[in-house]
Amino acid sequence: MGSESFNVGILGTGSCFPEKILTNSDLEAMVDTTNEWILKRTGIRERRILDDSQPAYEMGLEAAKKALEDSSLEASQIDLILVSTNSPDYLSPSTAAIIQGKLGASNASAFDINAACSGFVYAAVTAEQFIKSGYYKYVLVISVEALSKITDWKHRNTCVLFGDAAAAAVFGKVSDDTGLQSSWLGTDGTMSDVITVPCCFSSNEDRAQRVNGKEHVIRMDGSEVFKFAVRIMTEASLLVVEKASLTMDDVALIIPHQANLRIIEGAAKRLGISEDKVFSANIRKYGNTSSSSIPLALDELSRSNSIIKGDNIVLVGFGGGLTWSAALIKWSI
Ligand code: ACO
Repeated sequence: MGSESFNVGILGTGSCFPEKILTNSDLEAMVDTTNEWILKRTGIRERRILDDSQPAYEMGLEAAKKALEDSSLEASQIDLILVSTNSPDYLSPSTAAIIQGKLGASNASAFDINAACSGFVYAAVTAEQFIKSGYYKYVLVISVEALSKITDWKHRNTCVLFGDAAAAAVFGKVSDDTGLQSSWLGTDGTMSDVITVPCCFSSNEDRAQRVNGKEHVIRMDGSEVFKFAVRIMTEASLLVVEKASLTMDDVALIIPHQANLRIIEGAAKRLGISEDKVFSANIRKYGNTSSSSIPLALDELSRSNSIIKGDNIVLVGFGGGLTWSAALIKWSI
């Protein structure tokens, strides 16, 4: 086990988002904000919102089915299901376990990973390690986020930012030089109070900062996150390119976490690359879908042939923790 050297790549992708669209004008009627403010400060025009009666795992299940179909694999061939989420329906069972059951992936073990918005690349690297070691052959990674359920809809600083979506990718061995080339996962827990979503425990001090009765909603120091995000996305992108023995000229596209257009533009400027090399199209229509934003972009770009086999792509994210993650992947399909 583990002696053979090979690369691990993405064999198929899928995604799913709710039908319901919440526009900036809709938000104008809910909180003291304007379409102009939201567009100028974030680049977001609209976002998708999951129906109250629908669990988040259903989006993940749909995305997983599409990724399996795209990779021409059966659910029974999957050895491990990893779900990245920081907005699960339950703490226990894991979202991964629920989807395993609904998918009929009876040979798969399953668990959730929470690295907030950085979660997809964390899960991708975990999948890579399981496959490279020879422990598993096929790993299904699914990002599932229903941030609308943990959003304070009376708090204008956060409620304009988030949206719901799920996206999935099947990882397995590739027989050529494509696949994951390098990666970097990082955490700075000294900044763990910058973005928080309390669960079973929160201190009185923390409760006092949230609206009464809304203790389990996102609270965030937006400007701290902003500064951190621009710096870390630049550093992480440069590092994975260098680790793969490439230069920015070899990179076809950078796919950053779609959190805020100004963060993406700031990172592109620091990297000294043209904005058309940095994907930012999804922020307008989906808002910040946390760990789903990178695989959602991959699915859209792959299905529209906007990324093709052999393209060097940088995936880079940041989020609560604070965490960050980046990978250089040579597209395999
Ligand atoms: N509409 C109108 N005014 C608003 C709104 C709004 N929706 N939200 C805030 N304001 C006001 C503020 O109250 C403030 O007013 P004041 O000057 O009178 O106090 C003013 O706008 C400026 O506020 P800032 O917070 O300084 O605005 P900024 O330009 O920093 O933009 C934003 C705020 C969009 C939140 C930005 O900081 C940001 O995007 N940060 C990153 C957030 C992020 O990406 N988080 C990702 C991780 S989330 C996760 O992991 C689940």
